Amino acid sequence: MQIKGLNEEFGDLTTLISVPDRGPFGDSRYRGNYAGSVLGKLIFHLQKIGIKEPYVYDPMEGGKTSRDVCGYMNLPYVGADIHAGFDVVNDDFHDTGFDLTMLHYPYWNMIDYASDLPKHMQQLDMSRMSWKQFIAAVSHVNIKAAAHSRYVAVLVGDMVVKGKGYIRSIQREMAWIGVPVRHFTKLQHNAMSFRKSYRGSFIPVVTEHLLLFKTDYRPGGQLWILGSGQYHRIDADAYVTWKTAVKHVAKDLHHITPASVLNGIRTKFPVKLQKTQTPDATVRRTLQELEAEGFLNRAVRGVYELAS
Ligand SMILES: C[S@@+](CC[C@H](N)C(=O)[O-])C[C@H]1O[C@@H](n2cnc3c(N)ncnc32)[C@H](O)[C@@H]1O
Repeated sequence: MQIKGLNEEFGDLTTLISVPDRGPFGDSRYRGNYAGSVLGKLIFHLQKIGIKEPYVYDPMEGGKTSRDVCGYMNLPYVGADIHAGFDVVNDDFHDTGFDLTMLHYPYWNMIDYASDLPKHMQQLDMSRMSWKQFIAAVSHVNIKAAAHSRYVAVLVGDMVVKGKGYIRSIQREMAWIGVPVRHFTKLQHNAMSFRKSYRGSFIPVVTEHLLLFKTDYRPGGQLWILGSGQYHRIDADAYVTWKTAVKHVAKDLHHITPASVLNGIRTKFPVKLQKTQTPDATVRRTLQELEAEGFLNRAVRGVYELAS
């Protein structure tokens, strides 16, 4: 599969970003790095809206792509990484008043960035955290960045959970900060899944998410965030109405009577019965409603049939 670059050079920015060649910026041997023109496009955008010399911060610079781009564009830049002894989660940021903070988070659990680090630093590597710890850390860093920077760009992938058939989505679960300027879809040209061909039902992930947030935070101003997503177990049956439940049960019955329907409800929608003190009356009333709507006909007293 190949989709050629939509816009080969820095410049045009659309909500679909495709940069097939990673370009001269950063260390191409560094796993999980990004093409410098992704940052270049964001910087050009900021320049177009009047921030002529954006002050850029990348606290997880890895192979130093951001550093190289800013050097090339002659922009003020501060960069760090756990490999330079800096922990983005717990340490103070190096400065404040940034125009753009680039947060290219580790690909949780997929790439081990810390094996070459001393033991005490390894446990600070975000990709080794549990999922819940990771999302809390990402949210914390997003908010911290918002308090230090007018714009914050977050680049994250979706992680396929091996053997389970679903993904974990950082962008969905993390805290959003300020207002989203745009949510970009970025093609992952360097991802394994883009190169391999898969058999069977596996759906390869070939895109990632780039979010550009505007906080415009000024000392004494207001900073708003959309909190991190929370999991709740819900009672799915509560979202299925009595009418739908009775219709569904009735479709499989030869003799549609209040008793046979109630039996079917007991098997297929047990939670509905926990929510009523008078299940017989509820079933009878629902059958009458379905008769009035023309879904059922009354054959004889107390016995219904499906209307054809
Ligand atoms: C996806 S990579 C960034 C790649 C980078 N944009 C580049 O151009 O190569 C994520 C980076 O986060 C760093 N990292 C992981 N945990 C960290 C932490 N707690 N503090 C600072 N950096 C961390 C990793 O060392 C890695 O370099």
